Amino acid sequence: MLVVDCTKDYCVKDISLAPEGWKKIDWVSRFMPVLRAIREDFERRKPFKGVKIAATLHLEMKTAFLLLTLKAAGAEVSAAASNPLSTQDDVVAALAEAGIKVYAIRGETREEYYENMHRALDIGPNIIIDDGADMVSVVHRERQELIDEIWGASEETTTGVIRLRAMERDGVLRFPVIAVNDAYTKYLFDNRYGTGQSTWDGIIRTTNLLIAGKNVVVVGYGWCGRGIAMRARGLGATVIVVEVDPIRALEARMDGFLVMPMREAAKIGDIFITATGNINCIRREHFEVMKDGVILANAGHFDVEISKPDLEALAVEISQPRPNITEYRLADGRRLYLLAEGRLVNLAAADGHPAEIMDMSFALQAKAAEYIKENHERLEPKVYTLPREIDEMVARIKLRAMGIEIEELTEEQKRYLESWEHGT
Ligand code: ADE
Repeated sequence: MLVVDCTKDYCVKDISLAPEGWKKIDWVSRFMPVLRAIREDFERRKPFKGVKIAATLHLEMKTAFLLLTLKAAGAEVSAAASNPLSTQDDVVAALAEAGIKVYAIRGETREEYYENMHRALDIGPNIIIDDGADMVSVVHRERQELIDEIWGASEETTTGVIRLRAMERDGVLRFPVIAVNDAYTKYLFDNRYGTGQSTWDGIIRTTNLLIAGKNVVVVGYGWCGRGIAMRARGLGATVIVVEVDPIRALEARMDGFLVMPMREAAKIGDIFITATGNINCIRREHFEVMKDGVILANAGHFDVEISKPDLEALAVEISQPRPNITEYRLADGRRLYLLAEGRLVNLAAADGHPAEIMDMSFALQAKAAEYIKENHERLEPKVYTLPREIDEMVARIKLRAMGIEIEELTEEQKRYLESWEHGT
């Protein structure tokens, strides 16, 4: 049980940590020009005046800038964590000071995590911003009395979108959801370059080990896996990809990586990283053949990709050699090291994706909230992607901020692209 500062309007570890939180928020906001532009526009127009927004997000500094942007737009904002280990207590204290109803403490138990989510929901939101779909799921299972007031939700992650599409397929989804994850300016950058960098940031910060010369096994070759594998190669590793989809496996091979099943990769890997969104991708039969001293890390949303129950069952001793590293010593003396309790290593053992990346993802979230407000009456309880114009707007502001000008089509070229008569 944690000692906390809990009032009606917030539940934080220690409100006196706020000055450190403000410094962090100030730092990242300097590198988030797209969200800054949206904030200036929102501050002028106040599009969320009278609107209640509840968010379940990784409560770190870039997320704080999003929540402050929504508040500056006139919204009443509440927030809870989307993972018990990704919360930064100083940032949360700053948010509480800013008048955001925030309920989250790093290291909270599963029960406290859900209690805090319920507190955030108590504002009776019109819009939900979710990361992993836990909040939408809780509303459908336990807080159905809130549904009439909810116009819609937006979802940040691949894992969340998979869950929401399952709800749509089963006919249980009760309000529209915008799959922010599926916007080009999200997954091509956040999932690939964001996860690619922040996963290595978490692993390197935590272990202080060399990557060059190691066999790195990347499990899952979606956009996150692609980014992790690409950066592993850049760090000098031999990269092995484990993938169930034949097309992705082929792509991984032609991208220059070795491809093999987990039962083979398990014998030769030094560092294993999961990014599949699926359960028990690394399990007992794999731990049984691993080398002594391997590092196990997860970059997927939930802590189920590396089987902790199997590790616990195999271990004769469990210890903590360094913060965020759990050592499982097996009966034959081999030691397997699990980072950040198998939770997403980039957020639980580092600061999440770089600011320039979350700039785009959270610009999309802010625009998705506005889109829900403006269109909820005609939207059905389905999973939608954002209109292409919003994606292009984010890319254009980002390019401008990076000082990059792009080519434009001539009138002749536009006509050519629209015609079907031209041929050989
Ligand atoms: N920072 C805030 N949300 C994040 C996410 N979903 N992934 C990585 N970093 C983040």
